[in-house]
Amino acid sequence: MPQPHLRTVVVLAAGEGKRMKSTLPKVLHPLLGRTLLGHVLSAAAPLAADRTVVVVGHGADQVRAHLAEIAPDATPVLQAEQLGTGHAVRIALNAVPDGAGTVVVINGDVPLLRPETVGALVTAHEEAAAAATVLAAEVPDPTGLGRIVRDADGRLEQIVEERDADAAQRAIREINAGIYAFDAARLRAALGKLSTDNDQGEEYLTDVFGLLRSAGEPVAVHVAVDHVETLGCNDRVELASLRRLLRDRVNEAWMRTGVSLLDPVTTWIDVTVALDRDAVIDQNTQLRGATVVGAGALVGPDVTLVDTIVGEGASVVRSHAVGAEVGAGASVGPYAYLRPAARLADKAKVGTFVEVKNSEIGAGSKVPHLTYVGDATIGEQSNIGAASVFVNYDGVNKHRTVIGSHARTGADNMFVAPVEVGDGAYTAAGSVIVDDVPPGAMGVARARQRNIEGWVVLRRAGTPAAEAAQRARGAQRSGDAKGASETGGTASDSEAMHGRAETVGGASGAGDTATE
Ligand code: UD1
Ligand code: MG
Repeated sequence: MPQPHLRTVVVLAAGEGKRMKSTLPKVLHPLLGRTLLGHVLSAAAPLAADRTVVVVGHGADQVRAHLAEIAPDATPVLQAEQLGTGHAVRIALNAVPDGAGTVVVINGDVPLLRPETVGALVTAHEEAAAAATVLAAEVPDPTGLGRIVRDADGRLEQIVEERDADAAQRAIREINAGIYAFDAARLRAALGKLSTDNDQGEEYLTDVFGLLRSAGEPVAVHVAVDHVETLGCNDRVELASLRRLLRDRVNEAWMRTGVSLLDPVTTWIDVTVALDRDAVIDQNTQLRGATVVGAGALVGPDVTLVDTIVGEGASVVRSHAVGAEVGAGASVGPYAYLRPAARLADKAKVGTFVEVKNSEIGAGSKVPHLTYVGDATIGEQSNIGAASVFVNYDGVNKHRTVIGSHARTGADNMFVAPVEVGDGAYTAAGSVIVDDVPPGAMGVARARQRNIEGWVVLRRAGTPAAEAAQRARGAQRSGDAKGASETGGTASDSEAMHGRAETVGGASGAGDTATE
């Protein structure tokens, strides 16, 4: 649809934000998934502006780099010296070709501004063919803000900064939100007439209103329904309070779409996250970035998900995931760590004290306990025994392990990559698997157990252990223990298991100890 008016958005983001006491420019501080600047730009996005100019100054390089990422179409314009908001807008307009239309100016530090509100401001302004319209709000505490001074008929007379205001003006609780719509031509003309005759010696954008009014031009006030949207951010205490307000807004919106939040106060959901109906988010949970939670999934308590996709009906309990995918009906945790490119297919399980990185775990496969899976592909319906390590790193390079489908690997295995365990294969508990295990084979890679009879009585005589052993064995002659120990002592290599099929009968213990 063609715009009736050419629209230019100007975001003021050159200020230092001294009170943040930060090396990071104020507008780059994050707030539930976007920077302050990102929030402002996304509030302005539905205006479908023909051009967007961001005035940068303090930390200009950092702000430019951020803009290139989040709003590559926006034009950064440098205001080398911060000589006031009027000066900033003048510089911004110098950088865009002359033209008619509407100029929307937004302070860079009002992250709670809603698109609907800035949209309503601009529509009201354009419909009234005003020269300038300011977004105002009635606030409980106007300290530090510019006041809206109205005449006897209730029309805007001027905007006065607190430090330039008299006592009567200071008592006004209707404030300038720092968000405006202007007719481009009349704004340009008025900007040329700004003085620095004020307490800060700056060119105030707000003086444009008094100037236009004196020239008989129509200026208007658009009052925001909810003053919270106009709250600025000047220090980290305010930032924290904005974060709580935004959290409540985001949480309420999700609950209204059919998501259960069991404890909204401890649930922090970035504005960029998507949740499906009947998802249940339990307490102390942070959902960040591009995270998506499917219908009916259960997430929490005590979960952090960053850029993670959780499928329908899956559950993630007391765990941390970054850049992972959890399939439908899959189960994660408690105490799991999913790292980038950990991909669990449908109904897979990653259990307790398990870390997974850059690995696919096939449908229905389980990694239940105390295991590291790195750079691996695990087929379907396989079970990885407890306390296993996918040994992926040779000190220089990473290598992959492939486990087939319906495999059963024993507890306490090392898979020294690159290595492959075939479909339907088993491995014995305690094995260090360095060679491929063919489909259906039992891989055994461990020394066979030998018992040195009587060792404790002989070598630890007089200890409670030795006494207990003696009691258990009844009255034994010391000669028995001695003789047995000698045979045991020489039995080493000849009795070590070499993985012969028949010795594996004993290693059916592998299956026993492979936990499910
Ligand atoms: C401004 C308004 C005040 C309003 C308040 C709302 C003026 C003179 N006053 O005051 O009426 O109630 O916002 O929050 O405009 N900036 C630049 N270049 C500059 C100066 C500022 O880019 O030379 C940017 C800042 O980075 C900031 C915005 O403009 O994003 C507002 O500047 P700030 O110094 O915070 O103005 P306030 O004193 O808060
Ligand atoms: Mg301010």
